[in-house]
Amino acid sequence: MVSQNKTNKNYENRFVVFLEKKIFMDEIYNPSILSSQRSLCEDVVSALSKLQNHFSLVIVNDAITEDVFSDEYLNSILMECGIEISFTSKEMVSIGDPFIDHSSILEVIEQFSQINSIPPERRYLMQSGLKVSFFSELSHHGTETFLPKTLTFSFHNYSDLVSWILLHPKPSHNLLKTLLAGAKIIQEGGLVAFPTETVYGLGADATNQCAVEKIFTAKKRPLYDPLIVHVSNRDQMLLLVTELPKKAEMLITQFWPGPLTIVLPKSSLVPEIVTSGYPSVAIRMPSNPLALELIRLSQKPIAAPSANRFGYTSPTTAKHVVEQLEGEYDVIIDGGGCVVGIESTVISFLGEMPRILRPGGIDQKAIESCIGKVLLGQQETNEDTSTSPGMLPSHYATSTPLQIVEDFNDYTTRRDVGVLCFGKSEHVFVGPVEYLSPSANPAEAAKRLYQAMRKLDSLSLSLLVVKLLPETGIGIAVNNRLMKAAGSPSVVQ
Ligand code: TXA
Ligand code: MG
Repeated sequence: MVSQNKTNKNYENRFVVFLEKKIFMDEIYNPSILSSQRSLCEDVVSALSKLQNHFSLVIVNDAITEDVFSDEYLNSILMECGIEISFTSKEMVSIGDPFIDHSSILEVIEQFSQINSIPPERRYLMQSGLKVSFFSELSHHGTETFLPKTLTFSFHNYSDLVSWILLHPKPSHNLLKTLLAGAKIIQEGGLVAFPTETVYGLGADATNQCAVEKIFTAKKRPLYDPLIVHVSNRDQMLLLVTELPKKAEMLITQFWPGPLTIVLPKSSLVPEIVTSGYPSVAIRMPSNPLALELIRLSQKPIAAPSANRFGYTSPTTAKHVVEQLEGEYDVIIDGGGCVVGIESTVISFLGEMPRILRPGGIDQKAIESCIGKVLLGQQETNEDTSTSPGMLPSHYATSTPLQIVEDFNDYTTRRDVGVLCFGKSEHVFVGPVEYLSPSANPAEAAKRLYQAMRKLDSLSLSLLVVKLLPETGIGIAVNNRLMKAAGSPSVVQ
């Protein structure tokens, strides 16, 4: 409970970035009472310094994180770093017992904003885990939208997060405008680069042969590699197939929207160019709200491969897409970083038994607990409709050669070698290192994989080395990408 007293600060016409207090808990090194032993992670300091030139920064004191650091303690650290910041609690006179006030972050923001006349479209919330949420009454010239009122985007690092905020004033309003423009481009046969939860896609109307041809040209992709068609609802999918086996339906119910692609016999609505002449079509319903809304607004199924040049590392930010494909699409929708980070699992229902053609965001165990035993990998009998060209041994490659190794001993003193490390390492390296997940979490490693590969690839090194992850869960899909990026499934001893 807070009183209705207006605060001293004037937030009128200001954009406000609210900060979850937990960010500081996660990013303060050695939070000792001795000021010489405490420091804020450099990335956070630089992010907040950039933001404070353009936005008012307000730390949210909600009931849950309030007691973690006192306002005075945090304020003194931030002041040492030259950051001026307000606290929601300081700005308001608290009434009632704080211990029975269970107000959530969103409630506190709402109250603070109402008191200080900050409309939803001028509010951002920066959360722990490199996430930014924003809020609005979404509408554009009366267009109805299914976008949720609160959208949350994820980022790979603080620098990406800040750049995104600075480049996206009034994000919900402008994103809807971009989505409407994108939908029109799809309808007119153009190309739209858009985020999904797995990787960014390069999309075109799947029912328009000329539009789909442009995808192959833009990516320099050979025509023998078929595309995945993205839908926003089940009925749209039913128009694209001639049968839907019970087990496929069960998977759809369980995992859509999400990173699972299902291969089924195609209907005549799908042009041959989409499926590279195969009588089957690969379909998925992505869970990213921007992707879903783009498909819904365009009223077309959207054919989209990953938005990279054929054979190279897939993009997990809009910047990655621009780096490889600038000028090759009509519009790009920037939805921050992809949360899954590697491509969808592709499962075929053409043979006797369902068969996973490409491991991905949903692992085999989860699939089997839904529909029972499935096969994994390439067909032994040459039933060509069940092979996936994406299973070619070389794919997802960096320009710098990548080698899979069993240990890093030979590489610790090499300045010209970049190291991709899964968890923390006992080694000290003189060359550059990217840690995929300091806590050795395979899902986090998947999310950061392509970003880390691209970063090392940009350093003009002579070699990248990596150790495979434990072969379980999404680690199997990560290993699959690493082995393909290395161009050979063999491990260097
Ligand atoms: O997560 C994803 O799946 C991303 C996002 C953009 O949705 N898309 C993606 O598309 O990874 P792409 O084109 O990079 O990979 C599609 C894979 C390829 O391995 C392709 O061979 C396989 O799906 N595929 C497509 N149609 C197929 C079909 N009819 N039969 C067998 N495999 C098929
Ligand atoms: Mg691809």
